[in-house]
Amino acid sequence: MKTTISVIKADIGSIGGHIRPSQRLIKRVAEYIEDEGRDIVYDFFVSHTGDDVAILFTHSHGVGSEAVHKLAWDAFVAGTAIAKEQGLYGAGQDLLKDAFSGNVKGMGPAVAEMEIEERPNEPFLFFAADKTDPGAYNLPLFLGFADPMYNSGLILSPNMEKGFTFHIMDVDYTEGDRLIELNTPEDLYDIAALLRDNERFVIESIYSRGTGEIAAVVSTTRLHNIAGKYTGKDDPVMLVRVQGAFPATGEVLAPFNIGHYVAGFMRGSHTGPLMPVKMNSPVSYFDGPPVVACMAFCVHKGKLTEPADAFDHPYWDYVRANVSRKATELRQQGFSGMAMLPYSELEYGGIVEKMKKLDPKFKIRGK
Ligand code: F6R
Ligand code: MG
Ligand code: MG
Repeated sequence: MKTTISVIKADIGSIGGHIRPSQRLIKRVAEYIEDEGRDIVYDFFVSHTGDDVAILFTHSHGVGSEAVHKLAWDAFVAGTAIAKEQGLYGAGQDLLKDAFSGNVKGMGPAVAEMEIEERPNEPFLFFAADKTDPGAYNLPLFLGFADPMYNSGLILSPNMEKGFTFHIMDVDYTEGDRLIELNTPEDLYDIAALLRDNERFVIESIYSRGTGEIAAVVSTTRLHNIAGKYTGKDDPVMLVRVQGAFPATGEVLAPFNIGHYVAGFMRGSHTGPLMPVKMNSPVSYFDGPPVVACMAFCVHKGKLTEPADAFDHPYWDYVRANVSRKATELRQQGFSGMAMLPYSELEYGGIVEKMKKLDPKFKIRGK
């Protein structure tokens, strides 16, 4: 049976700054889909990560379905009405257009979707991150799919011996989607050379070379295209199929114990370690640190199980303590050097004005 799994997420307003949406807002989004989506989707699940509300759908309409995208958009509009009523901060902030047209891509919300032929049992992981961008998934995906130091199945299981195909997007290119397909294991060094730059070369999807099936999809987009200018970090979602021809759940999760430094954090303009958090976690310290939640599901004939909260385990408390230490250490150097992002990645335009004002004050000595 063919099933499409779609996750569509947006920041439509939060309590106390950019901390988390209100319970009423989340309830309204879920109610809207319950009332209006019965004939459109098989099933759905609503959660939040930091200030972002994510709707996970299963349905039969394929990737990029207007009916499903409109349902998500309208649910976010309904949630925005509550955000306005409650005076939440940034009400409707990710709904960049006044009216829905065809597809939410480029209209503000982030989207990751895959159409799959359901296996008899179909486990998958849904990741949602806040205060960072899609490049945050580059390293964990590389390690989980291509490095036997993290994926023991690459040594132990015949299922993955043919490797995977990585589809990587050059997100700086604005004219269209500029993509490259590279294979593991033979192109490993080329993949690493690209993924080194999380702000430019970003994994869009991964396919099994053994079966040809899609394994992972990330909400990767051309950043500059959204509003004709750089609009900042776009709090990415991702779907990953696991087990069998794909890495085991624990192999995909393992690299998240690094708490690697990513772009985002306060004002989308800093470097911070990515903290694996429990489902429905807020952000806090310095509007962060960047967080990622992982909800594990099985889907059967389009029906979802309840989520298993993958980072809700004593092991990850230990990781969270280490990541807090990494965040604190880097924050001690404030704006200096790599603690803040390079000029081109700063989310706020104020610094551009500042530099313009300072420029004429420079004098060349001796002239
Ligand atoms: C980063 C983020 C926050 C805000 C910051 C200032 O993604 O959401 O760090 O950038 O709280 O918010 P504004 O500009 O809305 O006052
Ligand atoms: Mg926000
Ligand atoms: Mg956010």
